Amino acid sequence: MLRCITCGTTYDIDQIRYTCDCGGLLEVQRDKPNVDRATFDARRASRKTIDQSGVWRFREAVLDVDNVITHPEGNTRLYERNGIYFKHEGENPTGSFKDRGMTVAVTQAVRLGATAIACASTGNTSASLAAYAAQAGLKAIVFVPSGKISTGKLAQTLAYGATCLQVRGDFDAAMRLVREACDRLGIYLVNSINPFRIEGQKTIVWELLQDLEWNAPDWIVVPAGNLGNTSAFGKALVEAHEYGWIDRVPRLASIQARGANPFFRSFTESFATRHRVEAETIASAIRIGDPVSHDKAVNAIRFTNGVVAEVTDEELMSAKREIDRMGIGCEPASATTLAGVKKLGLTGRIVCVLTGHVLKDTDAVMKNVSPDQMIEINPTIEDVARAVERSAAAPR
Ligand code: F0G
Repeated sequence: MLRCITCGTTYDIDQIRYTCDCGGLLEVQRDKPNVDRATFDARRASRKTIDQSGVWRFREAVLDVDNVITHPEGNTRLYERNGIYFKHEGENPTGSFKDRGMTVAVTQAVRLGATAIACASTGNTSASLAAYAAQAGLKAIVFVPSGKISTGKLAQTLAYGATCLQVRGDFDAAMRLVREACDRLGIYLVNSINPFRIEGQKTIVWELLQDLEWNAPDWIVVPAGNLGNTSAFGKALVEAHEYGWIDRVPRLASIQARGANPFFRSFTESFATRHRVEAETIASAIRIGDPVSHDKAVNAIRFTNGVVAEVTDEELMSAKREIDRMGIGCEPASATTLAGVKKLGLTGRIVCVLTGHVLKDTDAVMKNVSPDQMIEINPTIEDVARAVERSAAAPR
């Protein structure tokens, strides 16, 4: 069933609604699933598509249905570099973690008989929505802040066939508009306010725990924008602990960009007030001033004894460069994680969740290329020799 996190009212799981009559956020609630870690480990070796998905491998604790719309997704790598783990969600089918939630939300959309689905997006949700809608044969309508998302993400969304509404305003305006549009026009909303998105995104945490042979790390570090992931990670840890999959709960560290830091501001006041800001940061994925899942994210930080930090654009771009130069690569928003680890001085076993692929935002890379690295030459061996010399002398 669906349960309001504020007043506890419950609704049928197949009712189309995203919030309670009281305005509170809804979450999926279920009895303890009859499944254990050994089953998940066995499924990892199975050749069935549903088992191969890093989301549906955990289906009894996600959405227990037979017909799923899956690419499949998940099974992303866990890299270890300089003593820190990086779970690279940019290795999902459309290049971001959004696929984990989208496979579940679109599966539910089909079950409910929806014909059209929509979201507001800074680019990754829209690309994921478009891909899963194409697979399911649903009409896709996305609301993006006009001129404020990366070209790659826009192109990807259009390529999969979605109708793109370029809203003259910021992400928060697009978010308000899509909620009203879905209510009025009977379109199914698949932003992370949709509780089924959260169910799918829980598997980022479960899969990384499985990667670590269920030895919980000390910290899980995640970028924070609309706060869907922070909320999902909290729910994943509540359940993993309740179901006996882990005996110790890792702490969450949610990292925001300083120019888009409403959650950090609330954290510094022990969440006494909810803040809303006009957001500005180079990390366009998290340029969000009024995060929808605030209340769930507060519970996640409290349950895990977590922390929230902010990092500057300079700090996150310098961390991105470091991650890129490890040969891993990520988009700017994802690099808030490593920047946050440094800022907070975290120690112990740390997993940073890299949320998006390096190719998601090539503008951010190209703006910072040094003339000693990209050198135009005439097609002569002398020019090659000069360029090689110049590049050898340049600082790395
Ligand atoms: N990292 C990336 C790469 C994202 O695209 C997003 C959100 C986040 C982090 C923040 O996650 O919202 O769960 O706190 N992108 C959304 C989108 C808003 O539309 O693609 P969150």
